[in-house]
Amino acid sequence: MTQTTQRLDKLLCHAKGLSRSEVKKGLHQGWAEVNGVVSKKGDIKVRSTDLVLWQGVRVEPLGSQYLMLNKPVGYEVTRVSQHHATVFDLLAELPGLDRIQPVGRLDVETSGLLFLTDDGQWAHRLMSPRHHQPKVYLAELAEPLVEGAEQRLAEGLWLKHEKEKTRPASLERLSPTRIRLTVTEGRYHQVRRMLAALNNRVLSLHREAIGGLVLDETQLPAGSWCSLSADEVADLGSA
Ligand code: URA
Repeated sequence: MTQTTQRLDKLLCHAKGLSRSEVKKGLHQGWAEVNGVVSKKGDIKVRSTDLVLWQGVRVEPLGSQYLMLNKPVGYEVTRVSQHHATVFDLLAELPGLDRIQPVGRLDVETSGLLFLTDDGQWAHRLMSPRHHQPKVYLAELAEPLVEGAEQRLAEGLWLKHEKEKTRPASLERLSPTRIRLTVTEGRYHQVRRMLAALNNRVLSLHREAIGGLVLDETQLPAGSWCSLSADEVADLGSA
């Protein structure tokens, strides 16, 4: 999962937060050393075990990044948006941001847990329908939920324009109009469409957990992010 080699100029850009032209200038001045040898070339490959110095100071190799974000309502999960702020605005100062991608999507109006990473294989494993990672949502509904919803959700629902029923989902009723719903798929607008199929409407939606990882809002308020621990990365990627 960790990168083993990387171009020297890219490493310096990401690790030191420098532009490409700043790195180029510094390389030309002889500011970079790899294992004790000055390198003026940016395109050489360095390994994570190589000792890289920039103006005599050690440059830590950047491994892959794994982030969890508490997405606020009103932010779009996209790189560029004409109408909304984006989740990338919340990560603005992060080195290596250009390589980071969201793992799946949340609607603009949905809040809660979103992973982002530059490790494409990990993201793929996490999103793969074969892995059936449970995703837990809290939803406020416009109407009291119908009786028998538990069984219909467990049996699977037909959603408009879909060829297969939804996979079994489990429901916890927190009040007549507030539910906790656990699904193991990630279809387009899935929760909103499931509630529409039960003749209801979602007023607000929040993702509480993915796999075993529960978003703790006291530690990570809306709009903030943190790196996942190595154990969390391993657990999520192996489930
Ligand atoms: N289901 C939805 O309808 N929207 C989301 O953002 C996530 C799941």
